[in-house]
Amino acid sequence: MSVPFSVSYLSSCHLWLLVVLALVQLCLSGQKSDDVLCMDGERQALIRFKHDLIDEADRLASWVGEKSDCCRWAGIVCDNITGHVQEIRLRGLDGHCDSISIYDGSYKAVKEGLKQKLGGHLNPSLLELKQLKYLDLSCNDFKHIQIPSFIGSFRNLRYLNLSESNFGGMFPPKIGNISELRVLSLADLGGIRIMEMKWLSNLRQLHHLDMSLIDLSKAIDWFQVLYVIGWLLQASLLKSRKL
Ligand SMILES: *[C@@H]1O[C@H](CO)[C@@H](O)[C@H](O)[C@H]1NC(C)=O
Ligand SMILES: *[C@@H]1O[C@H](CO)[C@@H](O)[C@H](O)[C@H]1NC(C)=O
Ligand SMILES: *[C@@H]1O[C@H](CO)[C@@H](O)[C@H](O)[C@H]1NC(C)=O
Repeated sequence: MSVPFSVSYLSSCHLWLLVVLALVQLCLSGQKSDDVLCMDGERQALIRFKHDLIDEADRLASWVGEKSDCCRWAGIVCDNITGHVQEIRLRGLDGHCDSISIYDGSYKAVKEGLKQKLGGHLNPSLLELKQLKYLDLSCNDFKHIQIPSFIGSFRNLRYLNLSESNFGGMFPPKIGNISELRVLSLADLGGIRIMEMKWLSNLRQLHHLDMSLIDLSKAIDWFQVLYVIGWLLQASLLKSRKL
């Protein structure tokens, strides 16, 4: 008597199981395409950027693959929803820039540590990252190459840190075109020459500026410099009053 009931019960159980399995599979396959956030063009731009860097310690080992998700690569942060690359965080030596801080009694540690510094050239392919807001290349060793003026073409950049990264040559005033810039850190770039300061007054959103140990004695427009310093002071006073 109870046999037909249990058979139909079982088969309906099977049916449910099948439906559930199918749903789970649907979900999984849906997720697979969602998993890769990174945009093709931006991935390729990063690959080209890596190509021109010297990376002895292989810090960018994860930056490979035609179909891989560049949002998971070392130092890359994407917008969770749009998948655009927003941040590049490639600070060397975890911010302990000088070799003395990694000296543990043996020079081997120093040698290994120095390999952690990126060198080479900055490929303008980076400009493909239209939503880039944050660029930290501090504590690397670019062997006195110039700060490339293409950096001045980032429309959305808010944070730029090139401190202690051994850039040299003439400073590109085009940096003054990054109208959204809030933080500009150029500390300890003893090798660069700055001839004029007018560019600085274009950075209307700036509230943190570090140019310690940069030689400004060649800058001819001291009036501009004083004006900008006064204006920055005012901005920071306003900010501290708000806090
Ligand atoms: C993106 O997601 C991560 C982890 O899920 C979270 O920590 C981060 O705050 C999110 N970022 C944004 C901009 O929503
Ligand atoms: C810029 O980078 C240097 C070296 O990594 C770090 O010490 C400093 O705090 C950074 N500046 C800002 C404003 O984040
Ligand atoms: C960029 O900067 C240069 C040099 O400072 C200036 O001549 C030019 O007008 C700027 N361009 C834009 C689009 O702001």
